[in-house]
Amino acid sequence: MSGSARIGRARGGTPPPEPAPDELDVVVGEPRCAEAPLGSLDSWITPTSRFFVRNHFPMPAVETGEWKIDLSGQVARPGPVTLADLREFSNREIVVTMECAGNSRSTITPRTQGIRWQHGAIGTARWRGVSLAEVLHAAGILDAGRTIVLEGADRGPEAGSASDIPYAMSLPREKALDPDTLLATEMNGAPLSRAHGAPVRAIVPGWYGMASVKWLRRIQVLEGPFDGFFRTESYVIIGEGDDPDKPKTPVTSLRVKSLITYPPEHAEIPLGNHLIRGIAWSGDSEVRSVEVSYAPAGALEPQISWTPATLLGPSERYAWRHWECPLEFQRPGYYLLRARATDAHGVTQPLRPSWNYRGVATNAVHAVSIVVRRPAV
Ligand code: MTE
Repeated sequence: MSGSARIGRARGGTPPPEPAPDELDVVVGEPRCAEAPLGSLDSWITPTSRFFVRNHFPMPAVETGEWKIDLSGQVARPGPVTLADLREFSNREIVVTMECAGNSRSTITPRTQGIRWQHGAIGTARWRGVSLAEVLHAAGILDAGRTIVLEGADRGPEAGSASDIPYAMSLPREKALDPDTLLATEMNGAPLSRAHGAPVRAIVPGWYGMASVKWLRRIQVLEGPFDGFFRTESYVIIGEGDDPDKPKTPVTSLRVKSLITYPPEHAEIPLGNHLIRGIAWSGDSEVRSVEVSYAPAGALEPQISWTPATLLGPSERYAWRHWECPLEFQRPGYYLLRARATDAHGVTQPLRPSWNYRGVATNAVHAVSIVVRRPAV
């Protein structure tokens, strides 16, 4: 993993201006949830202006100079951690792909709960900050501390809660003490913007984005499990027939997945050679291969034949790969292009999304319909 040892400075003051709103497609206006048009995800590092935003509640007021994180629970030295305190720890920078657990939800049938993301709730950024592990060790984390709760400054009503609740998520001790789990103050070489969690947020590499808590206000080290709504009821896999009174499986690592970024859905392209392009990633492992197929629309699964794509660009543990695959279309027609990634453990994407109640962690093969036409004469 590339963790640079440069000592940086978290900057105080006002967060930088928000990105131009028209670079993202708005999914929900307020609290703002907006995604990248797939075709715009064509660079290894996603510019901040094209990085999706997912907010559960209205964004909190941010006074970065005064910011403190309250650290409590199973630690020998509880107390506030200021931005100045964070600057005392060594600084590291990691390129991390973040995907929202609800990404691609709109492709699941029957319709599930949750906001209707297409495929653009994903991006890759250069995050700079300090290891959460260093902060926890400096506070003297006790052996009894098993669960680390990260709480944001934003709050609001949620189904089933009598009063407003904060956005909070928990990590098991091992993930919290992984040196790559960051308290980040910078994104893509600039202080975090307000939308992305200024002045400090968690970055939990390899996990779905829900764990990367923004506007981090509180860290609690618990002996037992955390029973907060977002951990036990929201970001969980609920299958058909599951008992609602039994504990649910939490969403954690990113499942292996790929998306086609070119051509776009419903594109009309001329007969001949085309370079199909896309992205692929996996949380627990690296992407070993991507394959592309262009079965005629309506083809049965056995008729799908896969052509290997070439993986491009840097290969870093927590970052996506771009890929390309030249295909020749010899006959006009309506085609379904599909892409399928396989990771180093041999785990591959399913052909169809499997239903779960919350519509989370879907990683089915992405299929894009296109029209191939004879060139106009
Ligand atoms: N942190 C807080 N405080 N509030 C939130 O609503 N959303 C989470 C996570 N952290 C959220 C949060 C979810 S679901 C995702 S996918 C990521 O932030 C999105 O991060 P981004 O908005 O910077 O892209």
